[in-house]
Amino acid sequence: MIFRQLFDSVSGTYSYLLASRQGGEALILDPVLEKADRYCQLLRELDLKLVKAIDTHLHADHITGLGVLRDRTHCITIMGEQSKADIVSMRVCDGDKVTIEGLCLDVMYTPGHTDDSYSYLMGDRVFTGDTLLIRGTGRTDFQNGNARAQYDSIFNRLLKLPEETLVYPAHDYKGDTVSTIGEEKRYNPRLKVGSVDEYVELMGNLNLPNPKLMDVVVPANMHVGLHQEDLDKQGLALSARAAILSLGRPDILLVDLRETGERSKHGVLAGALHAPYPSIGESLKPGGMLREVAAASGRRIVFFCAFGERSAMAVAAANEAGLVNAAHITGGIDAWKKAGGPVVQS
Ligand SMILES: [Fe+2]
Repeated sequence: MIFRQLFDSVSGTYSYLLASRQGGEALILDPVLEKADRYCQLLRELDLKLVKAIDTHLHADHITGLGVLRDRTHCITIMGEQSKADIVSMRVCDGDKVTIEGLCLDVMYTPGHTDDSYSYLMGDRVFTGDTLLIRGTGRTDFQNGNARAQYDSIFNRLLKLPEETLVYPAHDYKGDTVSTIGEEKRYNPRLKVGSVDEYVELMGNLNLPNPKLMDVVVPANMHVGLHQEDLDKQGLALSARAAILSLGRPDILLVDLRETGERSKHGVLAGALHAPYPSIGESLKPGGMLREVAAASGRRIVFFCAFGERSAMAVAAANEAGLVNAAHITGGIDAWKKAGGPVVQS
């Protein structure tokens, strides 16, 4: 496995680059905007293809690298379903799995630092975001933080993991890089409380100043989505309502870019072809499945995904591959459902 812990000294943020092998797919956790060049350089050096970028929560101390990495690598952006970010490619909830080639992360909802805080468990290690830090815990005094919820997330979820589980947080300000669940149980001063009420009182009396750039950073992190207006202007986007009206039309080929897990959880559109986003490049090449189906049937490809981000990128990929009339459904199946569109269970 390739495992890299990367540090942004300005914000004290740790980002993690994961891959199962050189030459394979990679995932990054909590990337920082200003470090995007470094990540891209490392991806090139290790011959990795970035396919997913996750933020454990909406950060208040640095601007996320999610948007810039998506624009540069066409990766899928992921946050929790509670996140206030405008658009991400995929939203996850407790119990979901995030997979890339050779690796699987279990999604744990661990609110408290914020109401959209998640941890990601991968075998012998857990990425705790700002929920559990090394000898500390994330503050709970803004962004819908809640010390009571955090106590529950830490004591009833994270500390229930095997003691030898490695703890990789999103921040450290003292120079520590990794800990274990057992170590934190024994030596984390914030966890030396006798009850949830005692923890709530402790967290209520920290009196921390707000992060320096919070007023700039939080709004920026809420507007991370891909701008899709251009596709609209070029006539390459269908509103959910227009897409619903076109359901069943013989000249349109609906293409579902989501993963199997998303399809079974949220339902599928009748008659749609399944072509997962990560292999869209292959599928659009001469001889590729989508290319051939579109050519043979003469139908216009209309991509859709969860929120419209992957489908917008697929339209661009189709354009580059010479399929100039491919379109997408703005806002994805989320918008489709909100507009009253029918779905069937896969
Ligand atoms: Fe945070």
